[in-house]
Amino acid sequence: MRARIRWGLLGGGPGSLIGSVHRIAASMAGDYQLMGGVFSSGSATTQRAAQQWDLNEDRAYPSLDELIRAELARATHERMQVITIATPNHLHFDMARRLIECGFHLVCEKPITTTAEQARELARLLQSRRQVFAVAHTYTGYPMVRQMREMIAQNAIGPVQKIDVQYYQGWINPIIHDPSQWPKVWRLDPKLAGPSCCIGDIGVHAFNLVEYTTGLTVDRVLSDLDGLHPDNVLDVDATVLLRMSNGVRGVLRASQIATGEENRLHIAVYGRSGGLKWLQEEPNRLEWLREDQPIAVLKPGHAYDAPAAQAASKLPPGHPEGFIDAMGNLYRGVARAVRGEAVAAGDYPGIEDGVRGMCFLEAVLQSSREANRWVLL
Ligand SMILES: NC(=O)c1ccc[n+]([C@@H]2O[C@H](COP(=O)([O-])OP(=O)(O)OC[C@H]3O[C@@H](n4cnc5c(N)ncnc54)[C@H](O)[C@@H]3O)[C@@H](O)[C@H]2O)c1
Repeated sequence: MRARIRWGLLGGGPGSLIGSVHRIAASMAGDYQLMGGVFSSGSATTQRAAQQWDLNEDRAYPSLDELIRAELARATHERMQVITIATPNHLHFDMARRLIECGFHLVCEKPITTTAEQARELARLLQSRRQVFAVAHTYTGYPMVRQMREMIAQNAIGPVQKIDVQYYQGWINPIIHDPSQWPKVWRLDPKLAGPSCCIGDIGVHAFNLVEYTTGLTVDRVLSDLDGLHPDNVLDVDATVLLRMSNGVRGVLRASQIATGEENRLHIAVYGRSGGLKWLQEEPNRLEWLREDQPIAVLKPGHAYDAPAAQAASKLPPGHPEGFIDAMGNLYRGVARAVRGEAVAAGDYPGIEDGVRGMCFLEAVLQSSREANRWVLL
């Protein structure tokens, strides 16, 4: 049996949103073993998590300083190899920079930093190293998203001529109308979230999905952001016009005040001869539109799917896989890269995607601030 990759986790403690997704996803294919980490800002919580998860409490560290010191003191065959950063945003950059400098491979949550310059600094650091850096754009791990990417690349809908992506949630709505709740939500605090709430939290996913599925790059944006409440300094709603580098037009709408919406990430890409539509809440359906023909629905696990989509599902058709499975596919790609095996371009988003996301975020903020003018990425 192949040795498991020794894995560490920062953040992701009990009660966190994304921590259990990472833990289950990483263990899914048997590639990783969680050795320890810093699961919380409180060392008692980190220790409690280590007990719950049956880990060696010696490796449930009180701080990143302590983790680095103790892990580097271990022999290389015992040391953590891959570390995931799943803390609130303001900690990502410093953690990533230090861990890259110490030679660890990383999986980093989005937004990878709080400024584009920090993201570029991480990219520069990685340039001359052989370390893996993956960004947790979970949605790229879905089989039908990979199918969409392959079909567009294979010209199944002809040249792309219109892009429409929407990421609507409603969970901030009751909070934004009750300012006494704001201090409990780190995503609304610029010191913890960075310069954006809605774009940083979900807009960057939608942006990444556009570039991932179409293979095109966004050249410029024109945006209109709203914080809804006059005292709230961060955006909770965004409407963004996209101009791709080949001139194609698109629109990106992201909102956390779309009352009653859950996690409605929807992308539609229209080409000269057809269109493709995918909705995250029904991730095992990909709609294929063609003129004068009934809408076709493609599903995972079939021989008609592209190899990249087939490789992203573990079960026969009709056995639904979901969000955690999608994250698991990113971890499988990272495992292949860490082991020096062949990796394809779409297997996991890399540092360049993280940099693009931060450039997008800053351009969107600038456009809205400067009277909704076009801003280059
Ligand atoms: N990829 C996705 O689909 C997705 C989904 C949700 C969140 N996220 C991202 O994941 C990150 C975490 O989001 P969340 O919703 O899980 O947040 P959360 O508030 O639910 O959890 C954050 C965790 O980090 C821990 N933490 C805080 N400070 C720490 C420190 N100094 N050291 C170690 N741990 C610390 C907290 O104790 C908690 O366990 C954010 O960057 C967010 O944008 C990504």
